[in-house]
Amino acid sequence: MNTAFDVIVLGGGAAGLFCAAIAGQRGRRVLVLERSEKVGKKILISGGGRCNFTNIDAGPANYLSANQHFAKSALSRYTARNFLDLVEKHDIAWHEKTLGQLFCDGSARQIVDMLLDECAAGPGEVVIRCREDITSVSHDIGGFVVETPHGTFTSRQCVIATGGPSIPKMGATDFAYHLARQFGLKVVEPRPALVPLTLGGEEVLFRELSGVSADVQATAGKTRFREAALFTHRGLSGPAILQVSSYWQHGEPVAIDFFPERSAGWLLEAKRGTPSLRLRNLLRDALPARLAEVLADNLGVEGDLGNAPDKALRQAEERLFRWQFHPNGTEGFAKAEVTAGGISTAELSSKTMEAKSVPGLYVIGEAVDVTGWLGGYNFQWAWASAHAAGQAL
Ligand code: FDA
Repeated sequence: MNTAFDVIVLGGGAAGLFCAAIAGQRGRRVLVLERSEKVGKKILISGGGRCNFTNIDAGPANYLSANQHFAKSALSRYTARNFLDLVEKHDIAWHEKTLGQLFCDGSARQIVDMLLDECAAGPGEVVIRCREDITSVSHDIGGFVVETPHGTFTSRQCVIATGGPSIPKMGATDFAYHLARQFGLKVVEPRPALVPLTLGGEEVLFRELSGVSADVQATAGKTRFREAALFTHRGLSGPAILQVSSYWQHGEPVAIDFFPERSAGWLLEAKRGTPSLRLRNLLRDALPARLAEVLADNLGVEGDLGNAPDKALRQAEERLFRWQFHPNGTEGFAKAEVTAGGISTAELSSKTMEAKSVPGLYVIGEAVDVTGWLGGYNFQWAWASAHAAGQAL
């Protein structure tokens, strides 16, 4: 095999495959090096096997980054609608599940197959090599030299698409950050995101609710999400919690509103309307029974509502609107759907994803300090950043 390429893409995940396809269609000779035995492993398990491949409402506001503006350019030049057009061109049936989240009707495998078909479309050539754990990347005036245990490959341009370290047992690595540092690029401290939170201390009693879920509004700092929360044997999970976990800072509380539909004063109204009802029973009517019991045990309002002082009911209502949990940590990279932080956007062109200080070196996908909400936003960033780089290669 001729080991000289126009472009070497490091990592055959969502971003790497899509970038390789675009460069191949622009006539480039591209090599994709992937350490796992197959490409697109995270795509295959995503969305419960149906891949939540984009979110039709994806926009810059749905992403975290040290620079909120960075993602704007790529996201506006390759939109969710653009990716959906590609999905439809490949006759992949899809549906909107909720909140703009688009899933395959069938299997996530269809998305990987679509990317491989796009890679094979030509007129350029895309060579994909799996089981290639990259050991070193060096750079001189002539371009890049990439080594694996099986060979040495050279190229004019090189794309870092090795993702982030979330779920290492699937082959995820922090290789992108090592490379970044080697090339003198700053890295924003990586941290687990879209990750369950753990409870300890007095809050361990909530772990007994493992398996119970409720529709809530969860708030961390100034950011709130209205979705389901799930109690687990280690703490808190479910979409609302995963979403706020990306914004949560150690030491801060997470506030849960168990009655997001109700307005202030509803408990006093209940006292007037049904004075013989007990708070415990009122909560049982509105929430899962086990959850209602634990909340009632902690509110300290016993007896009929009619006999409870207004002040005590106002305080109970306030707690139900803003129940303060104090997570003692997260379940870490082992359980994090994505990694927040990553290669600093200050180092990259927002138009092409090329490193400003290393011409010919590009960074795309999760390796970059751009992290999406839960719900198809992370794949949309993978597609959009891959497209931005692919157009420039
Ligand atoms: P990705 O992780 O896809 O690819 C990186 C590739 O580089 C991997 O194949 C890896 O093996 C390879 N690699 C790493 N180090 C290497 C080395 N040293 N040498 C060679 N290769 C190396 N998002 C979403 O929008 N909708 C969803 O439904 C889901 N669902 C979901 C479920 C689960 C369980 C997880 C863990 C994640 C999701 N995500 C998601 C997030 C989504 O999977 C993620 O954001 C994208 O896959 C990121 O794409 P990248 O190509 O950047 O990294």
